[in-house]
Amino acid sequence: MRRKIVAGNWKMHKNLVESQALVTEIRGIVRDELLSNDAEIVICPTFLALPSSIKLLEGSNIAVGAQNMHQEAQGAFTGEISAPMIQSIGATHVIIGHSERRQYFGETSQTCALKTKAAINNQLTVLYCVGETLEQRESDAHWTVIEEQVRLGLQGISAEEMKNVVIAYEPVWAIGTGKTATSAQAQEVHAFIRTIIEKQYGDQIAQATRILYGGSVKPDNAKELFAQADIDGGLIGGAALKARDFFDIIQAAV
Ligand code: 13P
Repeated sequence: MRRKIVAGNWKMHKNLVESQALVTEIRGIVRDELLSNDAEIVICPTFLALPSSIKLLEGSNIAVGAQNMHQEAQGAFTGEISAPMIQSIGATHVIIGHSERRQYFGETSQTCALKTKAAINNQLTVLYCVGETLEQRESDAHWTVIEEQVRLGLQGISAEEMKNVVIAYEPVWAIGTGKTATSAQAQEVHAFIRTIIEKQYGDQIAQATRILYGGSVKPDNAKELFAQADIDGGLIGGAALKARDFFDIIQAAV
């Protein structure tokens, strides 16, 4: 039985004061209204809001993650932040390979593999994102694209290390567009990703690996998506910026 995860990716939204307000609101709703502790909850605010979010969430069951990191531990990489730095403030997760990083910042699956390795070496749980563009889907190239992203992004990751990896399938055409993959479309890809992991790591690890869906997940579609056999929760963008919507999505996972 895989424990579901609902993770909020805040992207480049909310200044420090706004972040603190949202964290406080989410914490309050989760404390007062969440009846079961079944799902893992993670929020990923901007780097600037990480320390205060961690402080505000002390003693809660909400974990905090970063949205990106550099693969080196330190060095002359102006503007970058490393895994040991993220770990040192008490963050436990990191998103790697988000399609926006691939699209706008030249992130490749090869760099993702290095980042994933560095993150795991620093006890961080990786939310590794894969997903095809609309053009790739329309030309039926998505299977190849996803397989390559999964294989290359996990290069050098051992079977043992896979327990620190969560995959997030986020079709690019469904991100921020209001166009969700149907639950059947998502399930089909999730099952496919599981077979890729199985080929590489065997059945036991494939069955234990959580695969999240991301792309216009909202309170009204979350339940159906999360009910699919191979969908183990969600990586939420826009709806994670509204405490009530985020909470309703968490409820759909428990
Ligand atoms: P939306 O939920 O806003 O479509 O964003 C999904 C996403 O990119 C999460 O990482």
